[in-house]
Amino acid sequence: MENYISMELSEAIRLRHSVRKYTDQPIEADKVATLKDAVARCNAASGLNIQLVLDEPKAFNGLFISTYGQFTGVRNYLVMAAPKGKEWEEKVGYYGEQLVLLAQTLGLNTCWVGLTYKKVPDAFSLREGDVIHCEIALGYGANQGKQHPLKPAERFYEADGPIPEWFKAGVEAALLAPTAVNQQKFKFLLQDGNKVGTRTFFSPWGYTIIDLGIVKYHFEIGAGKENFEWA
Ligand SMILES: Cc1cc2nc3c(=O)[nH]c(=O)nc-3n(C[C@H](O)[C@H](O)[C@H](O)COP(=O)(O)O)c2cc1C
Repeated sequence: MENYISMELSEAIRLRHSVRKYTDQPIEADKVATLKDAVARCNAASGLNIQLVLDEPKAFNGLFISTYGQFTGVRNYLVMAAPKGKEWEEKVGYYGEQLVLLAQTLGLNTCWVGLTYKKVPDAFSLREGDVIHCEIALGYGANQGKQHPLKPAERFYEADGPIPEWFKAGVEAALLAPTAVNQQKFKFLLQDGNKVGTRTFFSPWGYTIIDLGIVKYHFEIGAGKENFEWA
């Protein structure tokens, strides 16, 4: 999979937190153009059908049963559409997170949303076989969110030899990534010095493969793609 964005991404990783409350400040035209261009490139590289929806307040405006995911003021979002299947789910995570971190470098805030949104059919178009895997709220946050609690990195990897610095940096970047309900059901496996495998674990919430795509993108930024190969 391709990663074409190379702006201060490690800083964006540290600054990003899920934001669920947005102001009504519109996204400036030049930033919209940058986002649209990135969406088009992600779609071309992946075959996904990601769509940027602007100034559409209905999807996130309503009462939800759960207190998890109370959103206010969301009027811009990404619709993450693609066919069904694990391969597509991983791409949704990998490419969606590129857009999330790009948005962060533009001074925007985001939140991945798997559950608490309504589908507004006029706002997007699906190809035959596409489903909406999730959406990503986007805009100027009323706050910057807060850092989720960090767990010890050792719980998230296994290695068949000594641990290089780049591998640690990759795992640390992955631990800062968003995952559904902060479930972090992943592990990185270091083999033969420079091969990195992954494992996911069961979650009753699902979303573990989208999460995997997200954390693999963070790992690449933290570790440096030149230092390893995916196993
Ligand atoms: C695939 C996915 C689905 C998510 N779905 C929701 C959701 O439906 N509602 C919500 O409020 N947050 C949702 N989140 C945000 C997570 O709760 C959040 O990423 C996690 O708690 C870690 O916090 P952070 O993003 O601030 O680091 C989702 C995140 C991911 C990656």
